[in-house]
Amino acid sequence: MSVIINDPDMTDFSKNGRILITCAKAMPPWLSMELKERGFPIVTELDSGVVTTGSLADTMKLNISLRTAHRVLFSVKEFQAPTAEHLYSKTLEVPWEEYIPADGYLCINSAVRNETINDPRFATLKCKDAIVDRIRSVHGKRPDSGSDQTGTVVFLYWQDNDVKIYLDTSGEPLSRRGYRKIPMKAPMQETLAAGVILATGWRGDGNMINPMCGSGTIAIEAALIAQKRPPGLLRTNFGFEHIIGFDQGAWKKLRTNSRETPKSKINGRIIATDIDPNAVEAARKNATTAGVDSLIEFSVCDYTKTDIPDGGGIVVLNPEYGERLGGNEDLTKFYFGIGDFFKQKCQGYRGYVFTGNLELAKRVGLRSNRRIPFFNSRIECRLLEFELYSGTKRKKYSKENDHAPEQPS
Ligand SMILES: C[S@@+](CC[C@H](N)C(=O)[O-])C[C@H]1O[C@@H](n2cnc3c(N)ncnc32)[C@H](O)[C@@H]1O
Repeated sequence: MSVIINDPDMTDFSKNGRILITCAKAMPPWLSMELKERGFPIVTELDSGVVTTGSLADTMKLNISLRTAHRVLFSVKEFQAPTAEHLYSKTLEVPWEEYIPADGYLCINSAVRNETINDPRFATLKCKDAIVDRIRSVHGKRPDSGSDQTGTVVFLYWQDNDVKIYLDTSGEPLSRRGYRKIPMKAPMQETLAAGVILATGWRGDGNMINPMCGSGTIAIEAALIAQKRPPGLLRTNFGFEHIIGFDQGAWKKLRTNSRETPKSKINGRIIATDIDPNAVEAARKNATTAGVDSLIEFSVCDYTKTDIPDGGGIVVLNPEYGERLGGNEDLTKFYFGIGDFFKQKCQGYRGYVFTGNLELAKRVGLRSNRRIPFFNSRIECRLLEFELYSGTKRKKYSKENDHAPEQPS
């Protein structure tokens, strides 16, 4: 039996439906926090997403303001399909002509695991065929289709026999904010950097120090968060703009209001440094594109020479960690040095180390009071939090400590 989840009269952007917001694994608690702050209900928290409810009009607000989300997907239809033929016939029932302009451009993304399908591209093709056949049968012409995500984007989820079809109101993933023109080495995804700052609890009170800033993502996201600036304001294109019924006037108003809302004041300094002058140059340019360059003090130096002003706040480090557990000798020493830096220079602050190498994390040698899980793509990571009271005692670094309970859980 098929179930129409949202009313088929999709020219009405105000009708409520189910909205799935995708994000990185381990990010749902922070995404839920953001949704609650914006007044949206939490229906379910998934492994890498949160389900809420709202209208297509609401997706404009969600796309422009959420910091940790990847995609905002508006549910169109759910049904059972054991085979590709079922998928085609059920997809054909959806009144696609009410959502997608016949002279538009269509892209289909998918997550498929069905035993009759060897190549997910075949499922995507069947879904696309049904959509364009339906539109052609009504209008006599069909939208072009391909992999470009700048037009109407549909997301097909098909696991075993369960099919869920969504309109992807984001189009390009929301991590592509539009400010990072120069990524440098091992850049952190913008949505991940935002999640890290949200997890520290810093919202603009106290200093935010980011040695090893690389392309500046953490410092830039921190500045946006502190000023309560919607991260999507820089983007010029979203999926919802290519859905029939899109209210250009309401969107313009939302953007204008967001731009004109007075920015929150930051009661502290944001300092970002890196040993690599090219990284600092790139970070500065990225911050300029993001419109927060005047809020961040950049300089080139070894992280241990970073200015740590009085007044406290947070120090956030994202050192290199390689991809394998264990790490090499140089990195082991490097992480050990971070412990010294925290202990000697950062008293009165909360220190954070974001790393994907749990063995190296232990080498910091200080007792962490929180180990917050994150995923950087497929790599399981931790944000370790250290309360750096004056006189913090380093745990004695010795062979016995190799398996000491510092290990992030
Ligand atoms: C993993 S990257 C940081 C990426 C950053 N979060 C971003 O989003 O672009 C690590 C950075 O540490 C810097 N670095 C390495 N050794 C350093 C040192 N001794 N002092 C300061 N920065 C250092 C590197 O130049 C590199 O930019």
